[in-house]
Amino acid sequence: MIDDIARLAAEGTERVGVASTLDELRSVESELLGKRGALAALRQQLGSLPPDERRTIGQALNDARLTVQAAVDARRDALATAGRAEQLEAERLDLTEHVHGGRRFGHKHLITQAIERLEDVFVGLGFQVAEGPEVEDDWHNFGALNFAEGHPARDMYDTLYVDYGEPGSTLLRTHTSPVQIRVMEHLPPPIYMVMPGRCYRQDTADATHLPAFHQIEGLVVDRGITLAHLAGTIDLFTKAYFGGDFTSRLRPAYFPFTEPSAEFDIIRPDGSYLELGGCGMVHPNVLANCGLDPEEWQGFAFGFGIERLAITRHGVDDMRDLITNDLRFLEQF
Ligand code: PHE
Repeated sequence: MIDDIARLAAEGTERVGVASTLDELRSVESELLGKRGALAALRQQLGSLPPDERRTIGQALNDARLTVQAAVDARRDALATAGRAEQLEAERLDLTEHVHGGRRFGHKHLITQAIERLEDVFVGLGFQVAEGPEVEDDWHNFGALNFAEGHPARDMYDTLYVDYGEPGSTLLRTHTSPVQIRVMEHLPPPIYMVMPGRCYRQDTADATHLPAFHQIEGLVVDRGITLAHLAGTIDLFTKAYFGGDFTSRLRPAYFPFTEPSAEFDIIRPDGSYLELGGCGMVHPNVLANCGLDPEEWQGFAFGFGIERLAITRHGVDDMRDLITNDLRFLEQF
């Protein structure tokens, strides 16, 4: 009988070891260890044995039960772990990006590329870069820039107002010039800063206008700054951005926040020109509005449209192509 028990334990352990599912394991377990199982059947014979044999056989039966039970527990653990791994594998999501196999690479938008190039050129000339909010108050967009209340110069800007606070007090900035004010309010001169960003005007989009567009503003405030510094900086920038055979010119103009003021053009090697933006010497009232003494500090400022610059540089006919998100267009840059 001892031999039977030993064989049962060995065979049982082996069958448990090859059970390939939890269900199969469960039925092997009850065949061996259950109430009507093989070990239970042997145990029933115990009663008919003489007492000393009964003890040895009983002990052997207990050992066999423990051995088989341990094998069952180990197998159950192994099958559960494997099952979890299998489930994880089956339900796994591939979150890695496919960059091969004919898929398209993204890249920066033409306007972002232009802004980064402009920043590089000005940083190369010793400027720093700052940004300001797109939702502005009337003071920063107009008042501090020397636009008198009700002055017709405000009509140059088709302002979009935001429904916030007093009517007319909050707006989408119409130019990047309010960032000049914010810079002068926060930083002591000398200031050599460029300020790129998005601006808004109530305009219908056409080939040369967008209601949301980008400008880059420049501001220098230091001692002894003259119009010659302004003209020289614009010319240096023109050559650095477009190439050495481009030049620039200034034409008299009017802005409330600069005096004198000018429009500036880029002159191409063939003599044709591109009207790019406005500039001038920072008006003494603007310096004073920012707490700077105009007797001590002078400055110049300029601001120009980035869309216009970019489409000219790349020979794009219609500004609206920049915002229609047509990949056939975007992929060319
Ligand atoms: N802010 C002006 C505009 O948008 C341009 C400008 C900037 C003019 C700085 C002079 C100095 O029209």
